[in-house]
Formats: sequence, structure tokens, C-alpha cells
Amino acid sequence: MKIPAPFAWSPEFSTSYDNIDSEHRTLFNGLFALSEFNTQTQLNAAIEVFSLHFHDEQGQMKRAKFAGTKEHTDLHNGFMDTLRGWNAPVSQKQLKDGMAWLCNHIPAEDFKYKGKL
Ligand SMILES: [Fe+2]
Ligand SMILES: [Fe+2]
Repeated sequence: MKIPAPFAWSPEFSTSYDNIDSEHRTLFNGLFALSEFNTQTQLNAAIEVFSLHFHDEQGQMKRAKFAGTKEHTDLHNGFMDTLRGWNAPVSQKQLKDGMAWLCNHIPAEDFKYKGKL
């Protein structure tokens, strides 16, 4: 899915789970704030919301015994490694790649658990 401009969650990213959708909004907001201010504080805040969301989403998949939990968790861990490798100010390329990752991950991966949690 293409990167929305301005960078924000929209219903095309809806998983049908309100709690997950509201966490996804925090991810969009976190990367948006980072693109606007680009300080270590914003970067740390973005890392925090991704970490919290991934933890919660993985917990829900695990509790539902969702078959793709392991592969999905590996994708989350890979992106956390990417984020933790960033230093503020983050480059435009890194920001764009991070935004693209999120806009791809939700429809390509998160949508797989739709109706299964
Ligand atoms: Fe995910
Ligand atoms: Fe997610």
C-alpha cells in the first residue's frame, strides 16, 4: 500500500479489531512526529510505541494460537532491530523505509489474523 501523505492511519488499514487499530494509529503518529521533529526523544517514543504494540499483538496471536505467530514475531523483531539501529536525526531514507514497512506490514501481515484472534 502506498505511503499516505500526510502520514496517518486511515480505515484502509483497519484490522477490524478496535484495540489493534488504535495501537496502529500510535505507530503512524510516532513516525509522523519523528518526521516532523526528528529528535532522540521522538525516536525513543517511536521505538516505545512499536515495542508495546508488537508485544500486545504477539500476545493476542499467541492466545488465539494463531498459526503464523512465529513468522510474524520474527518480522516484528527484524523491524525492532532496524529501529534500534537508528540515531536521531534519522535520515529521510530511513524514515521513508520505516513508513513503507508499516504501510506494507499491516495489509500484508497483520491482515492475515483478521477473523482469527
Ligand atoms: Fe504485526
Ligand atoms: Fe500490527
